[in-house]
Amino acid sequence: MNAPLIDPFHRPVSYLRVSVTDRCDFRCTYCMSENMTFLPKRDLLTLEELDAVSTAFIGMGVRKLRITGGEPLVRRGIMTYLKAMARHLDTGALHELTLTTNGSQLHRFSQELFALGMRRVNVSLDTLDEEKFARITRWGRLKQVMRGIEAAQEAGLRVKINTVALRGFNEGELFALLDWCARRDMDLTFIEVMPMGDMGEEDRLGQYWPLRDLRARLAERFTLIDLAESTGGPARYVRLSETGQKVGFITPMTHNFCESCNRVRLTCTGELYMCLGQEDRADLRPSLRDPAAPPLEEAIRNAIARKPKGHDFDYSRQQVAGQMPRHMSHTGG
Ligand code: 5AD
Ligand code: SF4
Repeated sequence: MNAPLIDPFHRPVSYLRVSVTDRCDFRCTYCMSENMTFLPKRDLLTLEELDAVSTAFIGMGVRKLRITGGEPLVRRGIMTYLKAMARHLDTGALHELTLTTNGSQLHRFSQELFALGMRRVNVSLDTLDEEKFARITRWGRLKQVMRGIEAAQEAGLRVKINTVALRGFNEGELFALLDWCARRDMDLTFIEVMPMGDMGEEDRLGQYWPLRDLRARLAERFTLIDLAESTGGPARYVRLSETGQKVGFITPMTHNFCESCNRVRLTCTGELYMCLGQEDRADLRPSLRDPAAPPLEEAIRNAIARKPKGHDFDYSRQQVAGQMPRHMSHTGG
């Protein structure tokens, strides 16, 4: 039962992303609508169920666990779950426990996160301007996030900034963001906006700022050295030879990274998405709640046996083909 998880295309599944809540204290325009309806609490996996699924995956070779949301740090009792996961760091079964957060709660939790063995966090931040920050997040306050980032660094956590590249929004801040991160010794990764969820009046094609363009803009001022390293995901990295700074690009639309995919995603309701760009998923909740359902390990292995070769996103011909009807906050970023 402890044999590693290998998918039909011989890719080992070593990385699990777990969304612990669909809720968030922000309402970023490219992610959520203003008045979201969230899932009823009974649909969410309990902290014990999150532990059981994560532990099963770790038992089958998952070495890296990233906790996402929504905003993971607004989930009640999140520290109980994270402490439970820390026991796998202690045994050495798990190599990395990390978090993707909007930073709003980091001032409260950073010390505890470091104490339980977390060493790195990704913080989403699209602008350094208070007014623009309030506009893009609708409910967020930049000062609070800045305080959170400071707290994280003071606690000893390495911070990586994730910035969604948005045409007409943060184009003019490219070098300011780079410089701000460099001064704080933080890595920076740009993310191409993805056709997730429904946008209402906001048109994601209008906001689409291809990272190819962003990269060309960078190359006007810096010499970019491509780095070979890969995390098995869509991120590609360059080093700016003048400053030594590492910059990442996540381009799920324009690059094919699927052949090295090592990850699957668990939603906060216990559905396992074998690919971010496909609707196929396996509901693991029966295996947690219904004694007549197949055991958890068997359900997970059956799901991995269906992991597809790749996704269908395509921005070509100015229409969003392969658009996913679900929100990022459901499957996690
Ligand atoms: N396109 C790209 N990134 C998105 N995120 C949320 N929605 C989208 C989208 N439509 C990102 C957030 C954060 C991570 C959790 O997911 O900015 O970095
Ligand atoms: Fe919340 Fe992140 Fe979505 Fe913004 S992008 S609403 S911070 S989950």
